[in-house]
Amino acid sequence: MSDIQTQFVKNVLAGAEIERKAGGSAFAPSNIALSKYWGKRNAELNLPINSSLSVSLGRLGTQTELRLADESAVYLNGESVDPADSFATRTLEFLNLFPMVGKHFEVRTENNIPTAAGLASSASGFAALVMALDDLAGWGLDKQKLSMLARLGSGSASRSVFDGFVQWHAGTDDEGTDSFAERLDAEWPEFRIGILELSRVRKPVGSRDGMNRTVETSELYNSWPVQAHADIDVIRRAIEVRDFPMLGKTAERNALSMHATMMSAWPPLIYLQPESIGMIHKVQRLRADGLELYLTIDAGPNIKLLFLESAASDVRAAFPDLQVIQPFG
Ligand code: DP6
Repeated sequence: MSDIQTQFVKNVLAGAEIERKAGGSAFAPSNIALSKYWGKRNAELNLPINSSLSVSLGRLGTQTELRLADESAVYLNGESVDPADSFATRTLEFLNLFPMVGKHFEVRTENNIPTAAGLASSASGFAALVMALDDLAGWGLDKQKLSMLARLGSGSASRSVFDGFVQWHAGTDDEGTDSFAERLDAEWPEFRIGILELSRVRKPVGSRDGMNRTVETSELYNSWPVQAHADIDVIRRAIEVRDFPMLGKTAERNALSMHATMMSAWPPLIYLQPESIGMIHKVQRLRADGLELYLTIDAGPNIKLLFLESAASDVRAAFPDLQVIQPFG
């Protein structure tokens, strides 16, 4: 925990009174970015270089139970986690930012996300942790503040305190007080996301190191914030006017542009596996044949398909192993 983090937490909690209970619990959905967050302007406060826009995954996410305890312990899906494991150290280091609530915690985390499918569990994980902490401490923080605290754990977690379409504003303030997420006032019940598990190859480099390497070494990175800014405007407009092809095309190009910055880093970051490339071509072929189908990819080999309910049966026929998610219930 650094001084700058301690000061940030103090600022966010200013005026919040503690009315501590023995425990707290919360659920937060996972989310998938349609316009990605890639690059930090401040690593300690997880302040991004560019804004991002995501869709939350409804009931797929993380449920966390938090209790004050004599000794810290972390459980994941019912199993005790080795304290040296990075999941346990990241969780407990995060809770160390809040000594005013307690010194030791028992954390029980249940993920109902298919972990192998490359869906970031850190986003829903830190969002649920902050919300459970707020419940335990009795602060009653608003979502904007919860989003700022979740951001300290993982950038994408700032978006997971909300359902639906969510924009994380990058902000410009060095102290991070204007960098938080906000829910867009829009529902799109026909919107579908398809999850394909293509490869279980472990990522060679995590998002955190990957984005730092890209910012430091990629010649293409300069154009990334400019594109991300424009893409968010187009996606917001597409959501407003229900223009699915405009949304899909912009999201797909945004993801592949992010991968272009990764590949132009040194040493190159190539998260895509041969199966990923095969799938990108398959989606292009299906689209050329008239199917309204697009894709997005995060820092890993797995592909997420974007389509509407009207295309669902054709998409399922083309991808029999697809897990289909309805973000709007
Ligand atoms: C490619 O939020 O996992 O999924 O802030 O370092 O914890 P840290 O990174 P993280 O990065 C997510 C990157 C991404 C794009 C996105 O979700 O916007």
